[in-house]
Amino acid sequence: IPVEPFDFIIFGATGDLAERKLLPALYQRQVAGQFLDPSRIVGTSRTPMSTEEYRSFAEAALKEHVSANELDPEQLKAFLGRLSYVAADATTGEGFDKLKENLNGDEVIRVFYLAVAPALFGTIAKQVEAHGLITEQARIVVEKPIGRDLQSARQLNDTIGSVFKENQIFRIDHYLGKETVQNLMALRFANALYEPLWNSAHIDHVQITVAESVGLEGRAGYYDKAGALRDMVQNHMLQLLCLVAMEAPHSMESDAVHDEKLKVLRSLRRINGGTASKLTVRGQYRAGASAGGAVKGYLEELEGGESNTETFVAIKAEISNWRWAGVPFYLRTGKRLASRVSEIVIEFKPIPYSIFGDNVGPVTANQLVIRLQPDEGVKQWLMIKDPGPGGMRLRHVPLDMSFAAAFNVRNPDAYERLIMDVVRGNQTLFMRRDEVEAAWKWIDPILQAWSDNNQEVQGYTSGTWGPSSAIALIERDGRTWHEST
Ligand code: BG6
Repeated sequence: IPVEPFDFIIFGATGDLAERKLLPALYQRQVAGQFLDPSRIVGTSRTPMSTEEYRSFAEAALKEHVSANELDPEQLKAFLGRLSYVAADATTGEGFDKLKENLNGDEVIRVFYLAVAPALFGTIAKQVEAHGLITEQARIVVEKPIGRDLQSARQLNDTIGSVFKENQIFRIDHYLGKETVQNLMALRFANALYEPLWNSAHIDHVQITVAESVGLEGRAGYYDKAGALRDMVQNHMLQLLCLVAMEAPHSMESDAVHDEKLKVLRSLRRINGGTASKLTVRGQYRAGASAGGAVKGYLEELEGGESNTETFVAIKAEISNWRWAGVPFYLRTGKRLASRVSEIVIEFKPIPYSIFGDNVGPVTANQLVIRLQPDEGVKQWLMIKDPGPGGMRLRHVPLDMSFAAAFNVRNPDAYERLIMDVVRGNQTLFMRRDEVEAAWKWIDPILQAWSDNNQEVQGYTSGTWGPSSAIALIERDGRTWHEST
């Protein structure tokens, strides 16, 4: 379904995000027939560049990041025709009047996408306001990191909030745009089957793994100051946890969903100086092998210098409410792990008593495994009788729903969905201010405890599943990490 015509203004138009994600996503949405005339895309940054040069930049970006069979010459031409470029400097305000001249009228939806460092968010917002660019139909999109702790997140939210209303502010967490993450809501709330079991009476524990095989990818400057807790847990992993743990919202309407997620974040049991060393593990990768080749350790990638920044974190989290009391949520994420896999495992309680006696094989607890990437799908593990005449032997098998096998459709990139939601003004898959701040409220004491206790990172060899203490974290409770193969 086409969306209303819009102006899409990308600040940081020649940056990595624009090149790898935004331009390809916009292109795909045009191919999908969602753009109506006179929709425009305006690139802006400080670099002087002509529109022609920007179109060449965009063309190269699409050739690099969109597969060749999806690059239709007609579509490409039409897409590049929508692009223009205006150089603008947010620190001086130079170029902002010109930017205004390049837009459709004030009635047309206007998206300001800030694909720039957070330090510039406030400056750009103020310039946009000062030059009369904010209309009723304007929206602003900001990427993480939204602050590096509660205080800085509040400041940032205050600054943007002094210019834009909350319903105009779209805080992106690209995990919420992933197909399978949205599918989590469908699985939970479009099926009657799971909900009665979705609580501490029937669920033993939950595991959320977001494992990456990549290392720093040239982002040392940002990453070394952030670390895995800020980079992945404060946002993506807590968002996943919220979707697993929240009560059913009364509708998919944005505030209804945000209200339920907020309750979960507020129910997270605080981890502090007294418990952090028991409930959290920090790791840092050393040299090893990944994706078939030898790779450097984190410190070598940093090119000298000491660093106590974690590239891996495992946490035993708990949610203090009626539904979840006593059900641990084990979270782990890291770089340079054995493989790239994101998944959520819901492990149900074991059967209360086995009628089968000995020699039938182990009776394994049911598991629901929601694979977010790659090989998106859902597996419900069940016990069955091993087929054949040999008597009763039990076997653990999956009911397997692989998206690729079941549907012959392209899996859209998260940004495609999210960008169009911004244009439509639908905030359901974005983060509301209070959510971001509640997440920091839980993260801050962990950071504080790490620093007060001098909790050092533990080395792990690249290409493994992290430090041995992460395995101990779950094994102490008589459980094991799900083997993500
Ligand atoms: C980003 C983090 O938000 O998410 C990166 O800053 C990480 O460090 C990335 O690599 C992972 O995203 P995806 O979509 O590849 O799982």
